[in-house]
Amino acid sequence: MINFEVDRMKIRDLDQVMRIERNAFTMPWNRWMFEKELQNPDRSHFLVIRDGKNVVGYIGFWLLVDEAHIVTIAVRQDYRQRGAGSLLMASALNLAEKLNADKVTLEVRVSNHSAQNLYKKFGFKAVAIRRRFYSDTGEDAYIMWIYDLKEKIGEINAIAWRIIHNEEDESMQETIKD
Ligand SMILES: CC(C)(COP(=O)(O)OP(=O)(O)OC[C@H]1O[C@@H](n2cnc3c(N)ncnc32)[C@H](O)[C@@H]1OP(=O)(O)O)[C@@H](O)C(=O)NCCC(=O)NCCS
Repeated sequence: MINFEVDRMKIRDLDQVMRIERNAFTMPWNRWMFEKELQNPDRSHFLVIRDGKNVVGYIGFWLLVDEAHIVTIAVRQDYRQRGAGSLLMASALNLAEKLNADKVTLEVRVSNHSAQNLYKKFGFKAVAIRRRFYSDTGEDAYIMWIYDLKEKIGEINAIAWRIIHNEEDESMQETIKD
């Protein structure tokens, strides 16, 4: 069983969050941007995943009525491909569902196949392209959506359970029909 713990992001986590952020993104947020998010708890929901005292990843979403917009997710490089990203995603989707969201959206670089695979595993579908969305390279973004979070939440929790218990994983691409 893996022993990561997911928790609300706190101001005191920001030193570690910023180290991950600078390493993970070509256009990193600055510390002030995270501080502003943490000052707006009605709209902004930011979670960290810890291994003991170490923050090893984080995710953030904005909640707008019944719609959640995932605005960031990153895992420390030396912790990738061990399920931390999936546990963050499952935790965020659970929190969003509890807060009454039924739709979830995000943008992802067309070249970012690891992140796209993670999102597809949780039932996101690419529904549109936003041209030249990323100002650093002019790269396009896929806009991905889950339109029926309440229906999918059982399977999302099953994916998280399998990761925590180190069981063979199955992607929602195969288990969820359109
Ligand atoms: C995207 C990211 C958060 C994934 O975190 P992670 O902890 O490695 O994710 P997991 O171990 O839970 O993997 C979940 C799924 O993601 C996909 N995935 C992760 N790394 C992958 C890789 N290197 N190649 C292909 N698919 C990958 C797989 O589908 C994987 O499922 P599987 O283990 O059943 O094959 C991480 O790679 C990251 O921080 N990247 C840099 C920041 C970033 O690009 N964020 C997204 C911005 S839109």
